[in-house]
Amino acid sequence: MAFAISEMSAALDPIVEKYRDKQGVAIPLLADVQSEVGYVAQEALEYVGTELGIPAAELFGVATFYAMFRFQPQGKHVVRLCRGTACHVQGSARIAEQLERTLGVKDGETTEDLMFTIQHVACLGCCSLAPVMMVDSTVHGRMTPESAIAVLDGLRDESCKKEGVSC
Ligand code: FES
Repeated sequence: MAFAISEMSAALDPIVEKYRDKQGVAIPLLADVQSEVGYVAQEALEYVGTELGIPAAELFGVATFYAMFRFQPQGKHVVRLCRGTACHVQGSARIAEQLERTLGVKDGETTEDLMFTIQHVACLGCCSLAPVMMVDSTVHGRMTPESAIAVLDGLRDESCKKEGVSC
């Protein structure tokens, strides 16, 4: 995803001002960039780095050290599919295959329309509902490949309606 300079400046200038003339600000600066842009975008690091006199490569180096920073855009909805033992026994592999077939993305990837990021995770702590899929902060239990897709279709429809676009 590329940003126009004007878009970037509007989004990042308040962050630049917050950290101007301050020392040792790399981590909070990176966190603010990620919160504003959605991930640690190379263009954003170059912009804030130039404004603050910190080499973008240095900021990037710090970011790669911490698991909290993302280097790819994240979808509007994060879909966590449990691949723990109880969910595996109850068929989570078939759900994973269906998500991959339908959305065209694998574990850790984001759909092209930036609607969904898929993450395979270990036990979500609600094994009695296996197989479990968590979308954002909502837990969906006793999923089937079909019901998992229905949940995501519902979210997509809702989102399109809100934005007044057809999907
Ligand atoms: S194994 Fe999936 S919720 Fe525990």
